[in-house]
Amino acid sequence: METVGVIGAGQMGAGIAQVAAQSGFRVLLSDRDVALAEKGKAGIAKRLGSAVEKGKVAAADAEAALARIETVDHYGAFGDAFIVIEAATEREEIKRSIFAEVGARMGPNAILATNTSSIPITRLAQAAPDAGRFMGVHFFNPVPVMKPIELIRGLATSDGTVARVEAFAKALGKEVVHANDAPGFIVNRVLMPMLNEAIFALGEGVANVRDIDAAVSLGLNHPMGPLTLADFIGLDTCLEITKVLFTGTGDPKFRPAPLLVKYVEAGWLGRKTKRGFYDYSGAEPVPTR
Ligand code: CAA
Repeated sequence: METVGVIGAGQMGAGIAQVAAQSGFRVLLSDRDVALAEKGKAGIAKRLGSAVEKGKVAAADAEAALARIETVDHYGAFGDAFIVIEAATEREEIKRSIFAEVGARMGPNAILATNTSSIPITRLAQAAPDAGRFMGVHFFNPVPVMKPIELIRGLATSDGTVARVEAFAKALGKEVVHANDAPGFIVNRVLMPMLNEAIFALGEGVANVRDIDAAVSLGLNHPMGPLTLADFIGLDTCLEITKVLFTGTGDPKFRPAPLLVKYVEAGWLGRKTKRGFYDYSGAEPVPTR
């Protein structure tokens, strides 16, 4: 059984661990401490449990997948992994220090991949043990549900690395798309201006939260309206990615909406803080404007 290392047991890391385990890989799941990794694993157990209840997954398969996930409190065991996927906080200095630590413990042919949604791969590769065996693997939230993976190669990523990661992504049942190392890659380059524009529209009084979301989700047949989706992703993340697009291209069309900046300054970050464009403290989300 091949081993996959996952760093970060939050929304994305836990999702990646779940999909890898359900695809038959042994998974080593880590976070800042083992309690956080355990919390991530408990979330996976809960989601697998509800999939079993709905009859989507056989109970024995869910149990076996869960048993393939080991939480670890250090990177010592990562020497077994053929690929290590970093899905830690979207802060460059955090990722760099993780790469230095885990890089020293990885096997000589192992690949280090990052799930960054916005930091340039070529720049991050400078902190990896070998830039040839480093690349971006961008999953989408919720990972078990969303089909694509964007594969992003840095300038120095080898063809062999891309081929091995592509085979791995396919083994997870995902649809691979290739993107160059440009700001926002593909999806966020297209998505963030839409979310940002919806926030401009709200700030300029074009319509209220409910109507903007209803118009776009029903009018374009999107599963969520843009303000619901921004809250789901996290407004801090949306702002960070928008800033990367703005500074990375130098194009004013990507300037962040002032209301998005204000919400982040207020600590209203969306679902995770129970307040964003909606209030999530009750049973149903309530629009706030
Ligand atoms: N983890 C695992 N599975 C989940 C889940 C989660 N967090 N949330 C929902 N699901 C599953 C449910 O179990 C359900 O599965 P079944 O059909 O097998 O029963 C399915 O998703 C549908 O869920 P629900 O019926 O509860 O709810 P829904 O129909 O409203 O769908 C949704 C929820 C899948 C999230 C849907 O609203 C959706 O697709 N929204 C858009 C999500 C999106 O755009 N994601 C990309 C964000 S951008 C990004 O990730 C990149 C970045 O860098 C910012």
